[in-house]
Amino acid sequence: MNKNSKRKLDHIKSCVQEDVESQGKGTGFEDINLIHQAIPEVDFDSIDLSAKFLDKKLDVPLMISPMTGGHERSKELNRNLATAAESHNIAFSVGSQRVAIETGEFIETYQVRDVAPDILLFGNLGVTQLIQGYGVEEVEDAIDMIDADGIGIHLNPLQEVVQPEGSRDFRDAFENISKIASELDEFVYVKETGSGMDSEVASKLEECDVDAIDVSGVGGTSWAGVEATRDSSRKKAGNVFWDWGIPTSVSTAEVCRTVDIPVISSGGIRTGLEAAKAFALGADLVSVGLPLFRASLDSEEKVIEWLDEFILELKMAMFLTGIERVSGFEEVSCSVFGETRERFKSRDLFLEKWEGDHVD
Ligand SMILES: Cc1cc2nc3c(=O)[nH]c(=O)nc-3n(C[C@H](O)[C@H](O)[C@H](O)COP(=O)(O)O)c2cc1C
Repeated sequence: MNKNSKRKLDHIKSCVQEDVESQGKGTGFEDINLIHQAIPEVDFDSIDLSAKFLDKKLDVPLMISPMTGGHERSKELNRNLATAAESHNIAFSVGSQRVAIETGEFIETYQVRDVAPDILLFGNLGVTQLIQGYGVEEVEDAIDMIDADGIGIHLNPLQEVVQPEGSRDFRDAFENISKIASELDEFVYVKETGSGMDSEVASKLEECDVDAIDVSGVGGTSWAGVEATRDSSRKKAGNVFWDWGIPTSVSTAEVCRTVDIPVISSGGIRTGLEAAKAFALGADLVSVGLPLFRASLDSEEKVIEWLDEFILELKMAMFLTGIERVSGFEEVSCSVFGETRERFKSRDLFLEKWEGDHVD
């Protein structure tokens, strides 16, 4: 078996059998409360979750994060996820296509257009592949392989450094991303993989001409945790860096305040209420990984069931804050660390308070 394919299978085993989510740190959404409206003045049944993201109308501003592909089992998982995405008209990304590009094998494990003809679909590659020589041609190949609308480029320095066999030279990352983003006609977004992004990196990515950013912060899947739980010589380092990074709420608030391009909030978002808080901080889309991956191991019905519950919770949060459209979150009042602000001046208050509480 190809060593990348084998590693993917090891990761899956850890993600399914072990608790690989953050331990000491949460997403930070627990510090934010949306203010309850005792008289919401909206009809629950008229709540409209639809939103436009990168020129495409979605029924819910939600994405299934890139997770799988490149080994035998992943064909079924990607199809379960994609079918569920099609049923709700939400966005979906396949996992890293490195194995298929490098070996020409397992291509069919990523291909989902026959079951998901209309969704906003993304391919996925790592920035380390760009640094090691993948150019526009390989990225185009990845997009064409699955008839995608664009590509997500993942940043995973924590995973690379904690993996004994990881790639550790990130020096030309911005240059390579800029080349791809400026030369490619399709959408290019850049995502972290569970350690979050600060405003400086986000600004530089915006300058690189990327179409969107997924902050993918701390609070959910930890790649140091995955490494610590698999049979690896880096168990100790994996444990030391388990919660490394920026909590999803903080990363979302910081990046949304800084860039004008669309922002995806992800990393540990598990409920529709957490999604609502991400929208209140300014996110354009939320994305979910691990719970949907686990559901996909069962069936497409389980994925749909999980999504239905999540969407119901998001609608409940909208009803209880008195808004009928996702864009209404801009106007929702929040209480942050117990202090209430009208309208969402709360994002600044949240960052101010968070920094005050955590810097010293
Ligand atoms: C099993 C698994 C495989 C993943 N593989 C990829 C990948 O190939 N490419 C990528 O960009 N992110 C990958 N990720 C990271 C997710 O896309 C996401 O950024 C991260 O898991 C945080 O979200 P979560 O807490 O909702 O899982 C993977 C995550 C999981 C759980």
